[in-house]
Amino acid sequence: MKLNAYAKINLTLDITGVRPDGFHELRSVMAPVTLCDVIELNKNGSFAFDCSVKELCGTDNLCVRAAKLFFELSGQKPNVSIYLEKNIPFPAGLGGGSADAACVLKGLNELCGMPLSAEQLFSLAERLGSDVPFCLLGAPALCEGRGERLTSINSLPELDIVIAIGKARLKTPEVFREYDKAGLPARADSDRLLNAIERGDREEVISSLGNAFEPITDILAPETKEIRKLMLSHSALNARLSGSGPSVYGVFENSRAASNCAEALKNIGIFAVCCKTVSK
Ligand code: C5P
Repeated sequence: MKLNAYAKINLTLDITGVRPDGFHELRSVMAPVTLCDVIELNKNGSFAFDCSVKELCGTDNLCVRAAKLFFELSGQKPNVSIYLEKNIPFPAGLGGGSADAACVLKGLNELCGMPLSAEQLFSLAERLGSDVPFCLLGAPALCEGRGERLTSINSLPELDIVIAIGKARLKTPEVFREYDKAGLPARADSDRLLNAIERGDREEVISSLGNAFEPITDILAPETKEIRKLMLSHSALNARLSGSGPSVYGVFENSRAASNCAEALKNIGIFAVCCKTVSK
């Protein structure tokens, strides 16, 4: 069985508070995009995991952790081999590991005759990481709480996207810590975006995109700001950080404009890829 594990972008990311467990209360509109890893699951004599990227082959890979939780709860024998073809850059703020984990949960359940209910799969997803429940849903959604409270969004217009990532690396916990230290005023991009989606106002949808981390990542990794600027100078209608970075995405009028920008970025040595939002 071969499955696509789609990357996500954060169209908005508002932080509304800190929880007693140290995690943050979020309001984020997320959308899957067509950039994806491919996961192959096969019945096998015993459990095996392999990946196209050697540094990701270890047992701490989220695919292995997801499989372990699945087999524990379902009581099934772990007679499955998993092969991960990694195409989504990492670590990047694109939810690649979360997408893989969600895909393994969904795929194993299918391969093993659906022993777990949707609720059980979502509870395993929550244990694996804040973005895994969204990836399991596999459609645009408002994600609240730690990221696990999901409200599907049905009418997000399809957007032409370029995702780019430079050399700088960022660590998610550090970005959250620096955000807390900075004491920035809360943003409300999500409400504005949800309104625009409901009204079908594409222009307003695109101008409502935002990410509360940008003032922080602009300092921690100035390259992310530079790439956003470059995208805007290559006809992006808007350009934002995804998640806690360091990946950046631009939204374009059409696929030709997107591909022109991606080419220009690649010509100066920046990884760039064209994709579209997935609306299910
Ligand atoms: O859940 P996940 O493993 O993706 O979280 C990575 C890190 O991001 C956490 O250890 C935490 O520092 C931070 N985080 C947070 N609040 C969230 C999600 C993540 O503080 N809602």
